[in-house]
Amino acid sequence: MEKAFMEKNNAFYITTPIYYVNASPHIGHAYTTIVADVMARFHRMMGRDVFFLTGTDEHGDKVAEAAEAAGETPQAYADRISAQFRDLWPELNITNDHFIRTTDANHKKTVQAILQTVYDRGDIYFGEYEGFYCVGCERFYRESELVDGKCPDHQTVPELRSESNYFFKMSTYQQWLIDHITTNPDFIRPERYRNEALAFLQEPLEDLCISRPKSRLTWGIELPFDTNYVTYVWYDALINYVTGIGYPDGDTWSRFWPVCQHLIAKDILKPHGIYWPTMLKAAGIEPYRNLNVHGYWNIDQGKMSKSRGTVIKPLDLKDKYGLDPFRYFLMREMVFGLDSNFSEEGFVQRINSDLANDLGNLVSRSLSMADKFCGGTVPERGDVTAADELLVQKAEALYGQVESSFSALQFHKGLMALWEFVNVANKYIVEQEPWVLAKDPANARRLSAVIYNILEALRVIAVFITPVMPDSSAEILRRIGVDDAAGQTFDTVKRWGGVTSGVPVDRGGQLFPRHEYAAASAEQDERTLVSFKKEISYDDFQKVDLRVATVLAAEPVPKSRKLVKLEVDVGEKRTVVAGVGTDFSAADMVGKKIVIVANLKPAKLMGILSQGMILAAEGSSGLALVEVTGEVEDGTVIR
Ligand code: MSP
Repeated sequence: MEKAFMEKNNAFYITTPIYYVNASPHIGHAYTTIVADVMARFHRMMGRDVFFLTGTDEHGDKVAEAAEAAGETPQAYADRISAQFRDLWPELNITNDHFIRTTDANHKKTVQAILQTVYDRGDIYFGEYEGFYCVGCERFYRESELVDGKCPDHQTVPELRSESNYFFKMSTYQQWLIDHITTNPDFIRPERYRNEALAFLQEPLEDLCISRPKSRLTWGIELPFDTNYVTYVWYDALINYVTGIGYPDGDTWSRFWPVCQHLIAKDILKPHGIYWPTMLKAAGIEPYRNLNVHGYWNIDQGKMSKSRGTVIKPLDLKDKYGLDPFRYFLMREMVFGLDSNFSEEGFVQRINSDLANDLGNLVSRSLSMADKFCGGTVPERGDVTAADELLVQKAEALYGQVESSFSALQFHKGLMALWEFVNVANKYIVEQEPWVLAKDPANARRLSAVIYNILEALRVIAVFITPVMPDSSAEILRRIGVDDAAGQTFDTVKRWGGVTSGVPVDRGGQLFPRHEYAAASAEQDERTLVSFKKEISYDDFQKVDLRVATVLAAEPVPKSRKLVKLEVDVGEKRTVVAGVGTDFSAADMVGKKIVIVANLKPAKLMGILSQGMILAAEGSSGLALVEVTGEVEDGTVIR
């Protein structure tokens, strides 16, 4: 039914999660966005009209806190980090049609309109919420989130507090959702995540608290029916998927919503699989068509961690190994739906064997033979022998294999089928021995046919790899003299014989260079890739004025979880605001001899002017201060 609908409408709509702006982009964000791009390109190649949406999620506690720690207003901070995402995507060849921000004026307007509709229908009510409230975190915890009954951040026992809030009657739609998932088996896929969603639904659903009082959080969209509250960040964020295509009006909306496919990782299954369909139902909007859920990239078998320096930055990999190898690796290595482990060694092995060896060699030997034996042009097609038939049959089978695996997000399977064909083509060359045929002019016609077939095999491969490696595909097509690369849809590879006899070919250089991965320097290499900043000169270092300072007094900054106001002696008295409150009490700090960046431009944090910054290391179990031991006066320069 899904397929039939898509074919009739001939449209395809794909979304990524909108990423929080509280951290810079990493390999996980890049993976989801590249998968979405591969799907968008694949469906375009199938002749469909595609809309591809990505963007950033900018409201809520997390962002407000990150802005505070960075000493910026939430809006300025969100502008800065959102731009990092927006600017990254073109570098990864991402072809999104729109980049949405939840701070966009039209998004805010639509969120308010939907809230009002649901409120008017009676699905939002005002009620009392009781829970464990941590004053330090300024948030409620569920009992299951507490560790030994204490706040996991502050190790303090939270207060049992109640607060008045607005609630969405999610429970009303529980049975409807169970029925919908049951009658539409691929609504949530792969199956393991559908089962996980059904398991959530076995317990009675609690109504969803969808507001935050402004006394606690102001960085959000105001409720249209009560100006003392802002919307809960998930209620706001999920609606991006409809505002991004112009809900409630217009052709884009009516064309693309019925074929909406969401792409997410398993971490946000609950909001997408449970909250979102019930929110849509309550707002009178049809459910999305599919929720596609993938697993996690782990590093060294563990979660990516800032403190261990295992955050993989997509641009580092692109710069070191090239964009297409990076995209290929991500798509080939992960089985969609399962977790995968990233290691640079595995990465290098994969691209050396599949790209430098298999595909790279096929391209270079084919073109050099066309150069040598056919005067640098595509030769005549000639007669077809039984050996050629086999190559042609294998090529023609690819369409179905690639179509079915890519449509079902089984990219690794589609690529495996393609690489089998790369090997068939390599084998064809070995068996046909063009270099032997070339020795006898009587074989000229056969030699032409063999080289023609090899070049046509390259075209077939180039067309099929377009969604994953668009640049390499275009380059192969250029080299074999196909001038309308953009016109090479999947339709053109259903039939053998697309390269044009007589057009010049270009031998070109190595398409995929080999990379060395020296085991001895492995550890060093990994760290260079994942954690160290760019090299600087001694002069650059000299610009930083590091000084010894003693903490004279310390007090927590009111209404802040993290910030502590310090009075320090750094040869002169200064005020420094430090984000160490989650790890040190004010009393812990007094009397410590610490290190200060004395020439950092002063910045206002929560209204207090901070004249410098203290140094600390963020380890996996918390912060450690950089302290000075030995007798040394305050204000002494550190070099
Ligand atoms: N802002 C919410 C999403 C709102 S959507 C209406 C959010 N943002 S996030 O920045 O935390 O992004 C989460 C998503 O990033 C995951 O669902 C996944 O797409 C991607 N990934 C983050 N880390 C990842 C891995 N380690 N591995 C694979 N993908 C990961 O949640």
